[in-house]
Amino acid sequence: MSAHKFNPENRKKLNSKERRKILPPDQVLMDIGIGAHTVWADIGCGTGFFTIPLAREAQQVYALDIRAEMLGDLTESLVPLEIHNVKVIQSEENHFPIEDQMIDGVLTSLVLHEVDQPIEFFRELNRILQSDGRLVVIEWAKVSTQIGPPLEHRLSIQQLDDWALSTGFIKEESWTWSENFIGIGYRKKG
Ligand SMILES: C[S@@+](CC[C@H](N)C(=O)[O-])C[C@H]1O[C@@H](n2cnc3c(N)ncnc32)[C@H](O)[C@@H]1O
Repeated sequence: MSAHKFNPENRKKLNSKERRKILPPDQVLMDIGIGAHTVWADIGCGTGFFTIPLAREAQQVYALDIRAEMLGDLTESLVPLEIHNVKVIQSEENHFPIEDQMIDGVLTSLVLHEVDQPIEFFRELNRILQSDGRLVVIEWAKVSTQIGPPLEHRLSIQQLDDWALSTGFIKEESWTWSENFIGIGYRKKG
């Protein structure tokens, strides 16, 4: 396993007020555009920073993570919120237990810089998406900022594009949120 995986002991930080200011989840989802009758997968969902607002917009959300601690917190949060359209699933590094072409849109936020075999990961994203399905990658901008991982662990847009374009995606759009985060929208080739 990669040396720079997110440490679940720090998981409370993922929902901090500071983070919500620089990466406001509702604004991010509005920019992306979710669509009411869609099925999304949040891959590497953590404690549900995006899963919960996603569930309020989409018809169904599959929330996957390799770490049980993260999924435990997410499951606990869903109950008092009375959110019933999220399937919480523990996954393996490059294997998502979802049938082929089940998903309209995939969101993967701050995960790819932790992934050991990105081409395998992108292929698996491609497999679960329906033809023309959307893939949205959110990552740390590859610049030095006061917070976040060191520059050498961050991914360039060129690197992300190379992986996506070599695994059956086309690029459609991009966003920035504060100086810290970039988003890239791809679509699975039909
Ligand atoms: C920095 S956290 C981000 C969590 C969430 N996406 C967010 O934006 O709050 C990265 C998450 O990705 C998960 N992760 C890392 N590699 C993964 C993989 N190959 N498949 C699924 N989840 C993975 C980690 O366990 C962790 O919960």
